Amino acid sequence: MSETNESRPAQVDPRARHQDLVQQVEEHRARYYGDDAPTISDAEYDALERELKDLEAGHPELIEPDSPTQVVGAARGDTGFASVRHRERMMSLDNAFSLAEVESWLTRIGKEAGDRRIVCEPKIDGLSISLTYVDGELTQGVTRGDGTTGEDVTANVRTIAGLPHSLAGDHVPALVEVRGEVYLPVEAFQQLNDRLRDEGKDPYANPRNTAAGSLRQKDPQVTATRPLALTAYALGALEWGGTEPHPSIGSQSGIYDVLAQWGMPVSEFARVLDGIGPIEDYLVDLEKRRHDMVHEIDGAVLKVDDRSVQAELGSTSRAPRWAIAYKFPPEEVHTTLEDIRVDVGRTGRVTPYGVMTPVTVAGSTVTYATLHNQHEVKRKGVLIGDTVVLRKAGDVIPEIVGPVAAARTGKEREWSMPTHCPSCGTALAEQKEGDKDLRCPNSQSCPAQIIDRIAFIGSRGALDVEVLGEKAAAAMVESGVLVNEAGLFDLGAQDVALADLFTLKATESLTKAQRDAGETPRQPGDLTRNASKLLEELEKAKKQPLWRVLVSLSIRHVGPTASRALATAFESMDAIRAASEEELAAVEGVGPVIAESVRSWFAVDWHVEIVERWAAAGVRMADERDEAVERTLEGLTVVATGSLERFTRDSVKEAIITRGGKAASSVSKNTDYVVVGANAGSKAAKAEQLGVPTLDEAQFERLLEGGPQALA
Ligand code: IVH
Repeated sequence: MSETNESRPAQVDPRARHQDLVQQVEEHRARYYGDDAPTISDAEYDALERELKDLEAGHPELIEPDSPTQVVGAARGDTGFASVRHRERMMSLDNAFSLAEVESWLTRIGKEAGDRRIVCEPKIDGLSISLTYVDGELTQGVTRGDGTTGEDVTANVRTIAGLPHSLAGDHVPALVEVRGEVYLPVEAFQQLNDRLRDEGKDPYANPRNTAAGSLRQKDPQVTATRPLALTAYALGALEWGGTEPHPSIGSQSGIYDVLAQWGMPVSEFARVLDGIGPIEDYLVDLEKRRHDMVHEIDGAVLKVDDRSVQAELGSTSRAPRWAIAYKFPPEEVHTTLEDIRVDVGRTGRVTPYGVMTPVTVAGSTVTYATLHNQHEVKRKGVLIGDTVVLRKAGDVIPEIVGPVAAARTGKEREWSMPTHCPSCGTALAEQKEGDKDLRCPNSQSCPAQIIDRIAFIGSRGALDVEVLGEKAAAAMVESGVLVNEAGLFDLGAQDVALADLFTLKATESLTKAQRDAGETPRQPGDLTRNASKLLEELEKAKKQPLWRVLVSLSIRHVGPTASRALATAFESMDAIRAASEEELAAVEGVGPVIAESVRSWFAVDWHVEIVERWAAAGVRMADERDEAVERTLEGLTVVATGSLERFTRDSVKEAIITRGGKAASSVSKNTDYVVVGANAGSKAAKAEQLGVPTLDEAQFERLLEGGPQALA
């Protein structure tokens, strides 16, 4: 590794760096807690705070009582809400950014306390609130503020559904401060933003900001329209008065039981765990499920269960020593939008995409993100040169959320959609009036479209030809080996040799295994091993079933589902080609749009030529109906979700369709059965909600075998 890559502390004056960090942390805290939008991501903020802490650990003389490491939250200016002093201070939490940091916290507290029973629970990404109940009646709701004093938002808090206005049960104290997190459920957030967009208003950045904005509405009736929710997770001041103290109050988990008995909503995911193994399992599992929750979470909170141990461990000025927040890797980061370019896809659709300074988000490095179409670019309001918020949630593809407008310098510039195809120069047009997308109409000879169509033929969902990807397709089109996809299955060794990519430039070096197998190295000018593999794979692909051949033709709207339906109904390419629009539309799962698309595709001469040349080259153009398979699922609609042991995603569908059933992808009241595999998500829940019967894999196999009777 070169010297410049090593991370070592920069040679700066610690006092100057300290001052600089304090100023930055204070500024960003004020933005985060105030009404201004934050200009840096949570992860960048965490890094600044961490550097400040580390610096102070090495230079304790720099710590001031009002240093941001010593206080909670941010001081606020006059907000129009009355200031209220908390009876007991509201603390923040220290952070751990890795399992190793969690482990060292456990060792730290374990040594002192000799007790490691730890409550683990989700860290909800909302805002904290303190609710005062006097003689069981809700009297006040106050935001955290600087931890000592917050804002009185009682009228707004009262609009939160599910928040008890009176406490239930036998052990109701004379006075209690209940602490918890107010949040906006993810679904409600999305609905609210959809509505705002429909009304032409700016959407909110994320659920947390929305919840904060909603709770600070001057008019509680506006707050009441936002379906805020609350999870309680701590107690502040507590005076029992004449009441018998609740017997469970001695542990953190007991507090949750008490809160639940009072009627407060508590987390259903809190667990008491012992030892690093189960705790790590919990954290890993929670991260996997972070997007299945009703609210956003940005980590987990770990708390010592025994409250007498909590008391022994005590707190620093801003955070308890007996608790720690484990933060997941960030899913939202900031980066620079360096350029907006367009991609011409296999159907001619021209899609703008952002090119960004590469950045790590949710564990992967991201450089490109689609911007869908020119209207989306406008709607998001991004300019070239902007700092943008990039979000990658779970398995979802990375998305540019929008610009950080406050970070603009004036050097940013607006982007406009090209009017002509960047690949072939043809004027772009809407396919039909009102389309959001622009397309290049030159599907016959636009190189970008031809390359994409050929690469698509190689993809897993189509003919699954190893080696045939974007690079191989481009090499063959650019070298003139292929004019379009019609000649793909006629290719021989002498043809592919004309593409530079497929010939060796130097004598090949063999692996040990190849040498041991007695192979001789290929010489300059010979075909590469990849080229030989491509030819073999193309030969194999000719035997793929009819529906895959149909998919490979890139007929608009004709994806795997429609192709399967057409192949099952007509059994040959000739029959599909000969069918009338009405006959096509009558097929279950096809309909008029697809029927029209198929008819007009076959009306084009060069399209027909593709099919004819493929057929002449030996590509399978008819399926033999397997009469041995009984049509046990005739008239039934089945949805499969989660992973099964003996079926792939494709083979499940195939099994359903060949037995006369319909393989649907979403659950509705028309669904007859939902097959539920491992790690099934919302579809299984939906089935339950709608009362659709669910089947495990064994039951599904019985259904395939003998139809519904076999399940009785
Ligand atoms: S306990 C004395 N538990 O995270 C400990 N806090 O970064 C008080 N938060 O200010 C906090 N979920 O707003 C606790 N399950 C949870 C939490 C949680 C979210 C918030 C809370 C706190 C912040 C600290």
